[in-house]
Amino acid sequence: MLQSILIVLIIACLVATMGTSPALEVPSVVALFTKQSCFKCHNDDTQEGNLNLAMRSFELNDLNALSVWTKVHDRVRDSEMPPKSALK
Ligand code: HEC
Repeated sequence: MLQSILIVLIIACLVATMGTSPALEVPSVVALFTKQSCFKCHNDDTQEGNLNLAMRSFELNDLNALSVWTKVHDRVRDSEMPPKSALK
């Protein structure tokens, strides 16, 4: 009896920590894409449009990060970024 209560408690704790530790890292597929296509103009040194994609948090509960990644999504979807001139 005590044993099954313990197991339930352990599982509850695991689920709880999963929920409260959001992924801060940029997913590797996104990181690779921005590195190859965007870093040339949006890095620590060159921040076109005041945008640095090299140091971005992917904490989407953070409104700043969410708004940046939303803009990134929209500009890529609309074929505005990367600029055509950069694709040779
Ligand atoms: C050849 C240089 C160049 C490359 C490569 C490039 N950008 Fe840009 N980007 C700019 C310039 C210049 C601006 C500012 C003018 C504008 O907003 O169009 C800008 C602006 C932006 C903005 C708007 C920022 C804001 O706060 O309004 C976003 C979002 C963006 N770029 C995303 C991207 C993404 C994502 C990529 C890669 C897929 C990328 N850019 C690749 C030059 C570039």
